[in-house]
This record gives sequence, C-alpha cells and structure tokens, in this order.
Amino acid sequence: MPTYRIAPSILSADFARLGEEVRNVVSAGADIIHFDVMDNHYVPNLTIGPLVCEAIRPHVQVPIDVHLMVKPVDRIVPDFAKAGANIISFHPEASDHLDRTLQLIRDNGCKAGLVFNPATPLHYLDHVMDKLDLILIMSVNPGFGGQSFIPGALRKIAAVRRLIDESGHDIMLEVDGGIKIDNIAEVARAGADTFVAGSAIFGKPDYRNVIDAMRTQLETV
Ligand code: DX5
Ligand code: ZN
Repeated sequence: MPTYRIAPSILSADFARLGEEVRNVVSAGADIIHFDVMDNHYVPNLTIGPLVCEAIRPHVQVPIDVHLMVKPVDRIVPDFAKAGANIISFHPEASDHLDRTLQLIRDNGCKAGLVFNPATPLHYLDHVMDKLDLILIMSVNPGFGGQSFIPGALRKIAAVRRLIDESGHDIMLEVDGGIKIDNIAEVARAGADTFVAGSAIFGKPDYRNVIDAMRTQLETV
C-alpha cells in the first residue's frame, strides 16, 4: 500500500481561530496542512498570505503545503519560504518561466509542485519531471471550497501516475477539490497518494471522525 496522506485545506477552517483549528486538525490525524493562497487576479477570490503562514507555523509540526493561486508567482516564493512553508506549488499558466520558478522554490529550501486545472494539459510536465516533488491535480476549478468533484480528473490522475512511475522520480501525486469520504478510495485507485479536503473536514464537528473514515476507505484500495 502506498503512503497515503490527508491534507486538510484551511480554506474551510474558522479564520478567527486558526491556530486552534490547525492544532485540532493535526491532533485529529492530518498529515499535512494545505494552505490556499488566492489573489483576486489569477482566481476570483482573495485569501491569506505569508503573514498567516508565519502565524500558524509554531502551532503545528507537520508540513505546510502552500498552494499558490497567484500571478505572478516568483516574487512571493521567498516570503512563503521564510514564513515556514515546506511545499510550494503553483499553476503553470501563472509563471512565464516554469523551470526558473521550480528552481527558485527549491533554492529557497522548499519542495516544488506544479498544479493542473481541470482543462490544463499535462504537456507542461514534459521537461521538468526531475525538478518536481509534487504534482497537484485540481478536481474543481480553483477559487472556492465546497465545489463538486469533476469526474474527468480520474483519468488525468491515472495518466500522471503513469508518468511518475515511468520517470522513476519520487513525486507526490496530490488531488484537490471535492474530496469526501465517499470518493477518496476511487481517487486513490486512480493513483493519487495525497488528498486535500477542505469542507469535508472543517465543515464537520468531529475532524477525527472524518479523517478516520477516510483512512478506513483508503484501506480498501
Ligand atoms: C480550491 C482550493 C481547494 C479547496 C478544496 O481552489 O484549492 O484546496 O479548499 O476545498 P473542498 O475540499 O471543499 O473542495
Ligand atoms: Zn488547494
């Protein structure tokens, strides 16, 4: 069985109590904190930046996975690295120089990821597999939590799984958008190993119940 990781997205957390929220979700079994950064330019919503990342950093020991939905990308990368991010991923459409941005993230001591929207082609991967630590497949259009999983993402996840296996590189395959207890096993079967879930976890009163139920589903894969 692959190592499966559950990455709650704090987009659906109570922002007035964020320190407590991240501590609670980690004690409930979260492996990673997924941190959605939206700029009201690349996506039509505005969320949180490096100051908030720095504020939650002392509250948790698990990796902070920063999902940048911003354009341009490069200027903000060192700020997130200084704020304690461990993984930084971005959308290829938002950077003019993919190779440079990936290198910049690693030079700043973080793992580097590329994110694919539902209609973004995978050819962006052609020349950068050796510079990637994570590939994130969006199963909703980015910008908002609480949307429904787009089933076409499953074929794309399977295609990326093949590319990763053929490459021989150690690359996490993360999926983001509409992940729930009742579809996580299917997404894992398609080849994903890391699962972002916002509303499914923070929308429920008992985070441990949800995370445990997700793990039980993953055991069936
Ligand atoms: C969407 C974000 C997601 C979102 C997932 O743009 O990247 O991380 O918070 O939320 P749910 O799990 O509610 O679809
Ligand atoms: Zn995200």
